[in-house]
Amino acid sequence: MKIRIINGPNLNLLGSREPGTYGTRSFDSFFMELQEKFPEVALDHFQSNIEGELIDALHASAGICDGIVLNAAAYTHTSVGLGDAVAAIQTPVVEVHISNTQAREPFRHVSYIAPHARGIITGFGLKSYELAIRSFL
Ligand code: DQA
Repeated sequence: MKIRIINGPNLNLLGSREPGTYGTRSFDSFFMELQEKFPEVALDHFQSNIEGELIDALHASAGICDGIVLNAAAYTHTSVGLGDAVAAIQTPVVEVHISNTQAREPFRHVSYIAPHARGIITGFGLKSYELAIRSFL
């Protein structure tokens, strides 16, 4: 099974970015732990701060991956294009968030990804990614 994690803007700064909300761990160190936890899964990871690159990554994953774990970060709440890209591909996408977006500002309650996602996991810290991977197994 091949699963791709796609992370959106500012998630490259995990570990130093707003640690009270997103924790103190870098994604790279967490990703190594995920690979150890799921040796049976071919896991890879792509991050970009650029909306079009995230759309390209979704298109490129179709037909190659069995599942996509997508944290579109701030673009979740703004990007019709990313929502359309999720709708356009056959590969199932699970939307994840580190923080509980529903418990935060009203603009974070809107998701352009959610209507096209297989499911949503939000608010469990980095464990949200692990739960999303488990949902595919
Ligand atoms: C986030 C939540 C978004 O609202 C925010 O813009 C992010 C991260 C999360 O994982 O909690 O950048 O997607």
